[in-house]
Amino acid sequence: MSKKILILGANGFIGSSLSWAILKNTDWEVYAFDMSDKKLAHCLKNERFHFFEGDVNIHKEWIEYHIKKCDVVIPLIAIATPTLYVQDPIRVFNLDFESNLDIVKKCVKYGRRIIFPSTSEVYGMCQDKAFDEYESNLTLGPVPKERWIYSCIKQLIDRVIWGYGNHEGLDFTLFRPFNFIGPKLDDIKNRKEGSSRVMTQFLHNIINDKPIKLVDGGLQKRSFTFIDDAMKCMLKIIENKDNCASGRIFNIGNPYMEFSIKELAEMLIEEISKYKGYENIAKTVKIETVSSEEYYGKAYQDVAFRVPSIKEAEERLGWKPQTDLRTAIRLTLDYHLLGKDYELEQ
Ligand code: UGA
Repeated sequence: MSKKILILGANGFIGSSLSWAILKNTDWEVYAFDMSDKKLAHCLKNERFHFFEGDVNIHKEWIEYHIKKCDVVIPLIAIATPTLYVQDPIRVFNLDFESNLDIVKKCVKYGRRIIFPSTSEVYGMCQDKAFDEYESNLTLGPVPKERWIYSCIKQLIDRVIWGYGNHEGLDFTLFRPFNFIGPKLDDIKNRKEGSSRVMTQFLHNIINDKPIKLVDGGLQKRSFTFIDDAMKCMLKIIENKDNCASGRIFNIGNPYMEFSIKELAEMLIEEISKYKGYENIAKTVKIETVSSEEYYGKAYQDVAFRVPSIKEAEERLGWKPQTDLRTAIRLTLDYHLLGKDYELEQ
């Protein structure tokens, strides 16, 4: 049966990719909400895509009406940029916690299924080799290290949703993205230093002749996940065959793509130099080391490594990531440097 999916924050990186993945692969209807539709041009042409331009704190009636009307609610409106966690933690709290809690409560009220974005950040500085949804401890730094407000907010909402699920019958799934990358992650034009995630920041700096800054030498590692792989997992969660995703938490990540930030920078430079006009970039680009205090301020504390266990997604959803980092970088560069959109070409 065709499902009605409500996506709040449809113009974001995950929202726009998910909207397109749904339209392309299913017969579901998408009710999409955001402040802008800049990344949604191809979705807007589809008659199963219904877009409303609005603000989560103003258009509460529209949201409530559509929570009632839809089968599945996916609230993706949030600030997810580390610089803002330390620069404006209260804004992060207002949007990521308060606005989203309101939506969670509406799903409880109307008995709607919610698929909620938790984050890899909830594991914080956990020392496990691979982070497990049901076993790993969630390890955060002290309160003055304001970076952890995002992690802490997401952890509390996870626990609230889990509580509503276990005690009041809320049908939910929590998913935890591990450093998703791809063409539409942040805008690469006009970036202020630190205003986007690492991959887009580096890309912006390289093509604008600015030095790449490796925070604390760039030895910290992340597991990068190509957005297309991640969306395949999301479709399985939404489909929820035999209730396989209900009441569960899923890491969505690629444990085979763990690289240091320095390695990411090197690979990016190597790949960019294969494009016309950028052949000499490897010789001209400057790589600098800055301390995290200089880059983010005193309130920042970093995560040294972060590898997901994806046993849960493999066993329950039959999902496995397929794309290696070099391919992910190439598809992202094709989009920014050649204007090729792999999503539309498939
Ligand atoms: C991010 C954000 O918190 C969320 O978007 C999200 O929940 C999570 O990752 C995720 O996607 O899993 P983080 O991995 O720290 O956290 O985000 P980035 O800003 O992409 O930074 C990655 C690493 O690169 C950090 O160690 C950072 O210090 C470093 N970095 C960043 C640099 O060395 N240079 C830069 O110019 C920017």
